Amino acid sequence: MMGKMGKESARSSSSEGTVEVFRFDPKVDAAPRYETFRVPYPEWKDKKVLEVLHYIFERFDGSLAMGESCTVQHCGSCGIRMNGRSILACDVPAEGAMKLEPLSVKRVLKDLLVDQSFSSEEEEVAE
Ligand code: FES
Repeated sequence: MMGKMGKESARSSSSEGTVEVFRFDPKVDAAPRYETFRVPYPEWKDKKVLEVLHYIFERFDGSLAMGESCTVQHCGSCGIRMNGRSILACDVPAEGAMKLEPLSVKRVLKDLLVDQSFSSEEEEVAE
């Protein structure tokens, strides 16, 4: 079955992509956690990371928070970290194994959505 999965089934088959997503709502959660989703091959192959996040939002968890606005690599609101590097989710192709995190853990509003009303000198790197 596709969708959320427990630790015991964390391996993906070749026909699925595994997406590990940072989850945290500072208003209700005591600490951040990671949630893993399995996305079928046609839904991540030749797609952008943002499209995969839309798939997860629409099919598995409508509470997932992320930033986006223009979807054409202009506004920067979809900035996240994928497998440790900063990306624009609307620009970068999805990979079969992705760990998605906010740009700054200390600026998290919810999940992948961060407060972007700060200067670049203040930006911290997610750990
Ligand atoms: S949504 Fe604007 S840069 Fe990605």
